[in-house]
Amino acid sequence: MSSRSAGDAKRDAGYHAAEMVRDGMVLGLGTGSTAYYAMVRLSARVREEEIAVAGVPTSHQTAIRARELGIPLTTLDEHPTLDLAIDGADQVDPALRLIKGRGAALTREKVVACAAGRVVIVADPGKVVQALSGVVPVEVIPFAVAPVMKTLSGMGGVPRIREGMAKDGPVITDNGNFLIDCHFDRIPVPEGLEATLTVIPGVVECGLFCRYTQKTTLVVGEEEGCRVITGKRAQEI
Ligand code: A5P
Repeated sequence: MSSRSAGDAKRDAGYHAAEMVRDGMVLGLGTGSTAYYAMVRLSARVREEEIAVAGVPTSHQTAIRARELGIPLTTLDEHPTLDLAIDGADQVDPALRLIKGRGAALTREKVVACAAGRVVIVADPGKVVQALSGVVPVEVIPFAVAPVMKTLSGMGGVPRIREGMAKDGPVITDNGNFLIDCHFDRIPVPEGLEATLTVIPGVVECGLFCRYTQKTTLVVGEEEGCRVITGKRAQEI
C-alpha cells in the first residue's frame, strides 16, 4: 500500500506549478493549502534570484503568507491583467470546470482567474471527479441572505449559511459578505447553474468556475509524477 498522502500530492502539484512561472510574471496567488505549496516553491525561486515576480493575493490569508514568504505583492489596480494565476479547487471535472470556495475566497479567486492570461489549477487526485456535484458556495451580501436562500431552495438546492469554526455566527468573507453553502445532488449543466446563480440579486459570486476552461491547465500530483491536462487556449499562451 502507498504511504503517499493528499498532502504529498498537493505539495508536488504546487511545486510543479511554481516551476511554470517565468521571470517577470505578474501572478494571481490563490488561496488554500495546495496554492500555498506553490507559494513556498515560488518563494525559494525568488530568494535564489532565479525569478522576480509580483503577486495579487486572493485573500487575507494568502497576503499574510506571501509576506511571510517574501513574495512581493501588487494589486489589480496596478496590474489589471495578470500573466498567470495559480489556485486550488474543491472539484474539477474532465472539461476543467471547477467548484471552488471551501476557503470562502471564491469571489477574489474568480476576479483573478478572469484577469489572468492563464490559470493553473493545482490539485490532489481526490479533487478530480467525473461530474461536479454537492456543495456550491455562494457569496451573498448580508441584506439579501433570506431571499437568496428562498430562491436557492426553489431551484432544488439545500442552502445553509456557513458558520464560523472559531467564531459564533456566520462566516464573514474578506469582502464583508455572508457565504451560503448550497447543496445540489446533481449539477447536469454547470454553466447554466453558474449563470443562474450569479444573476440572483444580492449574490456576489458563486463557486462554479466554468468560463476559464480553455485557458486552464490542471496539475494533479500523482504517485508517478504530476499529471498535466491543458485546456485548448492554455497551450498558446
Ligand atoms: C478557497 O476559497 C478555495 O477555492 C480553495 O482554493 C480550494 O478550496 C482548494 O483548497 P485546498 O487546496 O486547501 O484543498
